[in-house]
Amino acid sequence: MGKKVTVVGAGFYGSTTAQRLAEYDIFDTVVLTDILEGKPAGLALDLNQSRPIEGFETKVVGASTGPNGEGYEAIEGSDVVVVTAGLPRKPGMSRMDLLEVNAKIVRQVAENIAKYAPNAVVIVVSNPVDEMTALAQLATQFPKNRVFGQAGVLDTARFTNSIAETLAVPVKSVKALTLGSHGDTMVPVPSRCTVDGKPLADLLPADKIEELVVRTRNGGAEVVALLKTGSAYYAPSAAAARMAKAVIEDSGEVLPVCAWVEGEYGISGVYLGVEAQVGRDGIKKVVEEKLTDTELAGLKEAAEAVRAKQADVASL
Ligand code: APR
Repeated sequence: MGKKVTVVGAGFYGSTTAQRLAEYDIFDTVVLTDILEGKPAGLALDLNQSRPIEGFETKVVGASTGPNGEGYEAIEGSDVVVVTAGLPRKPGMSRMDLLEVNAKIVRQVAENIAKYAPNAVVIVVSNPVDEMTALAQLATQFPKNRVFGQAGVLDTARFTNSIAETLAVPVKSVKALTLGSHGDTMVPVPSRCTVDGKPLADLLPADKIEELVVRTRNGGAEVVALLKTGSAYYAPSAAAARMAKAVIEDSGEVLPVCAWVEGEYGISGVYLGVEAQVGRDGIKKVVEEKLTDTELAGLKEAAEAVRAKQADVASL
């Protein structure tokens, strides 16, 4: 069987992720599912009609699913499943405000993934993502390396973009990093930021760097406040699609992701934003790099914050 990726949830995040994955032209099939009748099929048809213009051969299939797992046969044999199902934030909401409502959705989706695509690598993006990733692992009972979450690639991209804009340099000359949670305890890591190889601290004063750190932490909320309805999806879908690509190509590249941490940085037993090598089995290895004392303290604080919430999801 050819390479197959499923995107669950055909809203803004899911449909743009499906588009990016199809346009990569590295999968044979992209399946897009939703509980809505017709919408995934309509989006799939629309995407397939773009193939002659964009020049890709990947076939997009849309499927509607029911409350008792009806329609989930469509995801059978998926190598990768990206979970975007769930509500987005409204202005003023924190991602944590979505916990209960999205937990119900993600649990149901995860149980069906376990049933219909038992060998898939699962990438969770539904928010609050650190908690939804933990829940997806619980509900699928997949090995922890095969379930991970998207946050760091996006947060890092937001940080990178702000740095590039501030210094008026190309984004490609900037290397940045964020770790920790995808929320209030996000840990942008200035000590790992460089511009054309020069440390960020040599190029900007500390208060300006702190401003960029705060803006990164609020990056999603800034978009939500402007959009008024719904949350960001162009940068988020770029991040999720990149991760699915790293999996299917078994690239082994090191990406900041929400991964199960077992001893790294002196932290154990929690899903947390760290750098990890990504490949065909999901997380190959969590990579521990040197942090400043303040950054390490921030990461530990993030771990404790998400640990408490991740314990709660078991009962949701
Ligand atoms: N199974 C499949 N799809 C579902 C389910 C379910 N059980 N429940 C809801 N959905 C679908 C909705 O029908 C909707 O089409 O999920 C889709 C969500 O789409 P949007 O409302 O457009 O939200 P989106 O911007 O795509 O965000 C999705 O990603 O970034 C996070 O916080 C965001 O949790 C949110 C998720």
